[in-house]
Amino acid sequence: MTEPLRVALAGLGTVGGGVIRLIDANRELIARRAGRPIEVVAVSARDRAKDRGVDISRFTWVDDTAALANHAKADVVVELVGGSDGPALALARATLAAGKGFVTANKAMMAHHGLELAEAAEAKGTALKFEAAVAGGVPVIKSLREGAAANEIGRVYGILNGTCNFILSKMEAEGRGFDEVLAEAQALGYAEADPSFDIDGVDAAHKLSILASLAFGTRPAFDRVEVTGIRHVIAADIAEAAALGFRVRLVGIAEAGAHGLFQRVHPHLVPLDHPLAHVVGSTNAVVAEGNYVGRLLFQGAGAGDGPTASAVVADLIDIARGEFGPPYAMPAKSLSELPAADPGERRGRAYLRFTVPDKVGVLAEIAAAMRDAGVSIESLIQRGAAEDGSVLVAIVTHEVPERAVAQALEKLRGSQSVAGQPMWMPLLGG
Ligand SMILES: NC(=O)c1ccc[n+]([C@@H]2O[C@H](COP(=O)([O-])OP(=O)(O)OC[C@H]3O[C@@H](n4cnc5c(N)ncnc54)[C@H](OP(=O)(O)O)[C@@H]3O)[C@@H](O)[C@H]2O)c1
Repeated sequence: MTEPLRVALAGLGTVGGGVIRLIDANRELIARRAGRPIEVVAVSARDRAKDRGVDISRFTWVDDTAALANHAKADVVVELVGGSDGPALALARATLAAGKGFVTANKAMMAHHGLELAEAAEAKGTALKFEAAVAGGVPVIKSLREGAAANEIGRVYGILNGTCNFILSKMEAEGRGFDEVLAEAQALGYAEADPSFDIDGVDAAHKLSILASLAFGTRPAFDRVEVTGIRHVIAADIAEAAALGFRVRLVGIAEAGAHGLFQRVHPHLVPLDHPLAHVVGSTNAVVAEGNYVGRLLFQGAGAGDGPTASAVVADLIDIARGEFGPPYAMPAKSLSELPAADPGERRGRAYLRFTVPDKVGVLAEIAAAMRDAGVSIESLIQRGAAEDGSVLVAIVTHEVPERAVAQALEKLRGSQSVAGQPMWMPLLGG
């Protein structure tokens, strides 16, 4: 067999440990598939003494993570530290500048700095691979870059955050409130101690911007993703959605066309006959619609040491084979820049939920605001008074422009008839 591909590994946490275990377990098979062995030669993390459940004494320990970039024995660097900037970015820049291949699972860094890193990789003719950065073990990046490469893709969307899907699925299955389920998810290790990146939709937005760029051949535009997380979804929203034949899911959706580039992460009502309605627990799923292939659905584990390591090592196998092209499937200079689409022009049905006082005239005021804005109501449910005397009103609109719904909500802003912030969720169409 020919020379091994020698790997320097930064980060020995959940994913880093998984990569070492996977390479150990499948060593022979990987060598046959890659045409040569893949060997970890050097590692780096913060704490050398930490027990990691795998033997790292056989590797060279490097205190300074950035120094892995120029490690004499390494052909390629794997970054599993995390964070959009800091040591991960310094290592990426230094590795690519040294002309070595770079593999990462870091969606935050790719969302913020992907274009710069792709340009650096292309300038040196080296690999920049990031399969694990989107949907963990699900090979969606490879599928878009290669399998669907002949298609014009108009829309890519999916369930991109396992923590949110776990919380929403559990709220639905057990009829419990958001705060209670979040606390349980944290206790079980499904949610971070600081869960905001997940539950506020930022993590999904990172992944969506990467997918959009690959799917449409556009420059990554994370700063133009509209982001709303699941904090304000209440148990009653999920119950009303179920009564209407929908499930609530945090969906990231991107579209490109004559109207420009549209990117949004928002809780949606997903009809029960749509595959995304059946994605439960911490699973991720991505749908891409190509003009020749039709609808593609990718689904699987979006996180965890095994699935994420599977994606990282698949990238290493490609590099070992010498099979890699431009990181975004076309040279960075060929990526186009689309103007942002106007979300107000989008047409669709929507779910609206209001908490209102139990008194005469409230429904009439809401209905008048809808009528004045040109929003026609398909169904309206009013649920009896809660302990505090408030009543829940849930509305599904006919297909209307989003601008009209926004106008109706604006008319009701500050009204005595509406307590708190109304909830708006689009219905996933198509
Ligand atoms: N966990 C998943 O399921 C998953 C899925 C997809 C993508 N990812 C991505 O994979 C990356 C790693 O995630 P993870 O879950 O494995 O994280 P993790 O368990 O927190 O591990 C992070 C590792 O990085 C090391 N590290 C942290 N700060 C460092 C610094 N300043 N200098 C050097 N090393 C440092 C830590 O060292 P010590 O161990 O010594 O503290 C640890 O070994 C992230 O970008 C994440 O978004 C994770």
